[in-house]
Order: sequence, then structure tokens, then C-alpha cells
Amino acid sequence: MMTPPAKAKDKAANAAPWEPKIVAFCCNWCSYAGADLAGVSRVQIPSGFRIIRIMCSGRIDPELCVRLLREGMDGVLVLGCHPGDCHYIDGNYFAEIKMEWARHLLDKTSFGSERLLLDWVSASEDQLFATIVTDFIDSVKEMGRNPVDDDGSQDIRDELDAVRMTLSDFRLRALLGKVRTIRHKGNVYGENVKRSELDALVGNAVESEYLRNAILVLAREKDMSVPELAERLDRDPQLIMKHVVRLRQRNALEFTKIEGNDPYYKTMGGF
Ligand code: FES
Repeated sequence: MMTPPAKAKDKAANAAPWEPKIVAFCCNWCSYAGADLAGVSRVQIPSGFRIIRIMCSGRIDPELCVRLLREGMDGVLVLGCHPGDCHYIDGNYFAEIKMEWARHLLDKTSFGSERLLLDWVSASEDQLFATIVTDFIDSVKEMGRNPVDDDGSQDIRDELDAVRMTLSDFRLRALLGKVRTIRHKGNVYGENVKRSELDALVGNAVESEYLRNAILVLAREKDMSVPELAERLDRDPQLIMKHVVRLRQRNALEFTKIEGNDPYYKTMGGF
């Protein structure tokens, strides 16, 4: 048989249907075993996704998931044991809380949260594993390629950077780490806190931190005034001013100049 010339090979490769790049983090004790069983049982699953074995879904940092999407991954799947079955007792409950807020943050952006999914699979659920993976791959295919690399998608990249920075914030991480305990045991004074009140409190903290990071991202490359920031972020200028003051107190923003009546700010190095 003749070997096709290099150009013909390139053409054939270019004509190959697009396959999304998807990573699936599977916990060692249930979902990875489910994936293994699916392989042993020869359950049909589309190829083209990569499995990374982790000890528990609770070990997954949502910032890593968003970073992967920011770097061009088309979809990220996290699969853990069913609620109540985690081998580390409650790791999957923590994973659920972290992912819930990561998806909430992604929903604030034009990128959306559909490319990040958390689900549960036990060691005996080979069929369920196949169904979840296949459905996720199909939904990603329907959405198309990750838009981060498109020309003119700087806004999306900025939004994802703000989400990533928010998820890295130690105050927010500490708060999210306490949510499960507060839900079940109450606050440090032993008082029960209503779920709606707790969600509102976390929601406010998440929104504030996201806005502050969005300001830092926008003022990274260019001096920005409060009205400009308010317009870009579609928020009230007074609210933006409040966050600018806070960022100045944290030494994260520096004053650069005054033009007209507006002071301009730039993000300090290191942020
Ligand atoms: S061990 Fe599977 S989710 Fe924790």
C-alpha cells in the first residue's frame, strides 16, 4: 500500500471531526472504579476524554477546574461517590458546596457554567458512568469549542480570570469551608442559621470578591476610572467606588492620574 503524501495526510487530519477536549476527575473509591468497570464490561463510551484519578472529589480545587477552562479545555467533569458514600465521610459534600459556588460565579460571566459538571457514580454503576460521560460530551459538542481562544474573546478571558482569582481568595475559601458545618451544627455560638440567610451571606461575599477581582483584571493593562469600570461591569458607580476604596486599602490598586473630574486607577504589580 502506498503511503499518502504528507499534504494529503494533513488534509485528512484537518477534515477529521472536531472532538472536544474533556477532563474527568474521578474519585479513587467509586467513580474511578465505575469507570474501570465500564472498561472491563466493554460499555460503549465516546473516546477523547481524559480521566484523572483523585482520592476524593472533595480534594478538587474549583480554581483548578476554572483554570483548565481558561486554558482552553472544552469541558471539566468531577465525579465522586454518591452523597453519604464518601470514603472520607463528607468530602463529596464539600465538593458539592465548592462546585455550586464555582458554577454560580461562572454564571455571572458570558462563559456560563455548563462546561463544568459535578456528578456521582458508584463503583458498580458502569452504565451510569457511561451515560453521564456521554451526555456531557454531547452537551459540550452542542456548545462547540471553548471560546477562550477566539479572536475578540478578551472579555471572556478577563471574566474567567476574575472567577479564578475569586476562587483563590483565602477569605472566601475559609468561608466556603465552613458552610457545611454551619448548615448542620450552627455558627460558632451554636445558633442555627437559616439556609436562606447563609446562602445570602455567602452570595454577598462571593459577589463582592468577584467584583473586586473583576476591577483588578480590568485595571491590569490600562488605567481605569470608576465610571469606566462601572460601565464595563454593568454596576452602579457608587458600588464600584466602594470596592475601589477597599482595594486601595488592600494596596491592590494605585491611583495614577486625574482626567477631567475622574481619578484613574491601575492594578498594583503582584495582583
Ligand atoms: S471518596 Fe469518593 S467522593 Fe470522597
